[in-house]
Amino acid sequence: MLVRRCAIVMIEPRERLDFDLTVLFRGEGAFATHIEWLALAAHLDQPVVLSIADLELLGRFGETLWIDRSSLPTDLSQTGIDTLLTAGLLIADSIHPEHRHRDERVRATHWRALSALTHIHSRWHDINAIRDSTAGYTDIRDMVAQLGPPPPETIDRRPTDARITLPAAPSDRLDPILHARYTGRNYDSRAVLPLATASRLLQRSFGAQWTRELAPGAVALKKTSPSGGSLHPTEAYLLVQRVEGIAPGLYHYHPIDHALEPLATLTDTAARTTALRFVADQHWFADAPLMVVLATRAQRNFWKYRNHPKAYRAVLLDAGHLSQTFYLLAAEAGLPAFITAAINEVEIEQAFGLDPIDDLVVAVLGCGPAAEHPETVEFRHIPHLPDPH
Ligand SMILES: Cc1cc2nc3c(=O)[nH]c(=O)nc-3n(C[C@H](O)[C@H](O)[C@H](O)COP(=O)(O)O)c2cc1C
Repeated sequence: MLVRRCAIVMIEPRERLDFDLTVLFRGEGAFATHIEWLALAAHLDQPVVLSIADLELLGRFGETLWIDRSSLPTDLSQTGIDTLLTAGLLIADSIHPEHRHRDERVRATHWRALSALTHIHSRWHDINAIRDSTAGYTDIRDMVAQLGPPPPETIDRRPTDARITLPAAPSDRLDPILHARYTGRNYDSRAVLPLATASRLLQRSFGAQWTRELAPGAVALKKTSPSGGSLHPTEAYLLVQRVEGIAPGLYHYHPIDHALEPLATLTDTAARTTALRFVADQHWFADAPLMVVLATRAQRNFWKYRNHPKAYRAVLLDAGHLSQTFYLLAAEAGLPAFITAAINEVEIEQAFGLDPIDDLVVAVLGCGPAAEHPETVEFRHIPHLPDPH
């Protein structure tokens, strides 16, 4: 049997504070500290707790060359090797094919180690952002009461008299749209998004306005947002609840053909439940008739930026640009929009059949007609400007 270490693994000493009565009785406070050694691997969803012996053993294997197990030094613990193989931190050519398969995928995708671990181990599964908030504040007033005020809203780097005052910004054509843009947290739960509106939003946000072959086989899409390396690796997946003429369900948007690829049909109730799960139970977003999941194709992005320290940052920035364009198009149509990163990536991956090694779910966007009477706070109208809504 041939063995080697998995491609990407890092070790974290994680502190756990346990309530301990015996410590309390010794008069040393109520908590005891436990340090666990955790192995975070890019092809494993969960950290693996290691003993010091496991840790030392893992350090005896490299990730590149396969070694015949029978030729390993005799001082290495065979039981320890079995434990690491079962956990997936050591990879074998002939057993645990699931670990080998996923490890090969990590290698083939050219992930940067820190980026892969950041992405894989920051994904949520079955989180309710409201119920599971560990912060424990009831609202912003409560936060200020407990934490004191946040750092000030602006900073002064020079004294006031050293400033160069700029001329007032003249009004211009973008202003009405820029000023109408806001994050909607109150969607009309019965309103249907007109197909023409949805179509324009999708085409102008995520559609290719042009294609150009830069080299044989290397086609660049020209979109309305910029993209690192001109790769546009971010795909738009849709959760439709109420779009005119489109059945509730899951779709992939094809940016060149400007077409929806149906992936699953949902009942109205299932679509609403799925929406709520996607946005980690942020109920103020769940009634948006159209949601868009931004998922970046690692293979396309890392094709150019192989093992690159900035590639993951570019992915996140790409999603931000697409989001702002989407917001502005929604504003043009008189609609609020939203973006959230507080999402259950694992449920989203499962729903659309995505693997996080290859497809990075980054954010969920949405939009739709606003409810007449808002219940959740939003900046719908800038008071000193005419109300565009
Ligand atoms: C990256 C990002 C993540 C966000 N996540 C959330 C979120 O999880 N929940 C939410 O209610 N709003 C979220 N928002 C919206 C912001 O709260 C909102 O932009 C901010 O309150 C300012 O309001 P405005 O967009 O109307 O100007 C997010 C915005 C951004 C850019």
